[in-house]
Amino acid sequence: MNTTISRRAVIGASRALLAGVALGTLSRPGAAQSPPSRASASGAIRLAGNENPHGPGPAARAAIQAAVGDSWKYPIFEEMAFKAQIAEREGLTPPHVLIGDGSSEILHIAALLAGSGGGELITATPTFSFVADHVRAIGGSVREVPLDAGMRHDLKAMRVAVSPATRLVYVCNPNNPTGTMLSGAELREFIAALPREITVLVDEAYLELASDMSEHSVVDRVRAGDNVIVARTFSKLHGLAGLRIGYALARPDLIGRMARLKLVAVSSLGLAAASASYTDLAFQSASRRSIAEGVAITTAALDELKRPYAATRANFVFFDTGQPAAGFLAAMRERGFSLGRPFPQYPTWCRVSMGTVEQMQLFAGALRAHYAG
Ligand SMILES: Cc1ncc(COP(=O)(O)O)c(C=O)c1O
Repeated sequence: MNTTISRRAVIGASRALLAGVALGTLSRPGAAQSPPSRASASGAIRLAGNENPHGPGPAARAAIQAAVGDSWKYPIFEEMAFKAQIAEREGLTPPHVLIGDGSSEILHIAALLAGSGGGELITATPTFSFVADHVRAIGGSVREVPLDAGMRHDLKAMRVAVSPATRLVYVCNPNNPTGTMLSGAELREFIAALPREITVLVDEAYLELASDMSEHSVVDRVRAGDNVIVARTFSKLHGLAGLRIGYALARPDLIGRMARLKLVAVSSLGLAAASASYTDLAFQSASRRSIAEGVAITTAALDELKRPYAATRANFVFFDTGQPAAGFLAAMRERGFSLGRPFPQYPTWCRVSMGTVEQMQLFAGALRAHYAG
């Protein structure tokens, strides 16, 4: 296992993030409505779930309040309207869109289609394991391909892993837990080289956390009619994880197959919030700036402490603690911070999600104190 991270990649990422910070004075998104939730169940500051602690944004909060009275209805028409809203922005049609109970429902359905009858999934490791877990649970097989030396998806090795049984390739971009990203160009080349009957599921949960999303999204391959599913969520940038809204973009025939496995409808309050948040560009920008500042604070502390970290493009930083991760996580809990779980492939590394800027300053202080002691 190679855990060497290119110094150049790391420094490049830090510079890009700092440039993002320099774009404007940070406002505190959503601060006028109510303070962000600070506590995990244990009372610690929660830096574990890759959420947006500023959410929901102002437009989403107003929309939730306005929608409460109608929540006795199944929101069938609201869901249709939301599909049309998404399709219009993406240059697609409503039959290209499936709304899910979070993007987890989209991933779950893709896993059902791939794993039924013993079909095979190809996935990176470590990555978000939900799809692989569900494929295994229904009796499908999973081929795991380790990340490369830069902790990015090893697309060459994933291409080599394809077998006659392969039905689905899952690419999480940016990757959870490492935050590393493949460029749109790399992914498009990978998709073009695969047999047409294999579906590529690209999970873009974290892609919209930076402003160059359109360059790296493979939604253009959906427009072109390729065998590609793009999964997105309102749980990350939009701060709506508790309201459970995500969506898939894919060819209408693929969406049709997926829709047959979908639950009845999603939450009406979730739909109202997501639809309003979708056009709340000010909240989205402020959230991006807050994430960039949090990452800059965290990586500056790690640089100072000479702790290696992966080049992140997401709202979390994956770094080498220099000790078994479980011990480090316990020490951080003692200092009042709840972080992500350990990843067996990288036993000394751990992931910290971005909280508010103030929380990240406190976390950087805790890191310094930990390594000083
Ligand atoms: C990569 C990735 N995809 C999908 C999800 C699922 O998010 P949700 O079901 O809240 O949309 C997560 C959640 O952490 C994730 O990290």
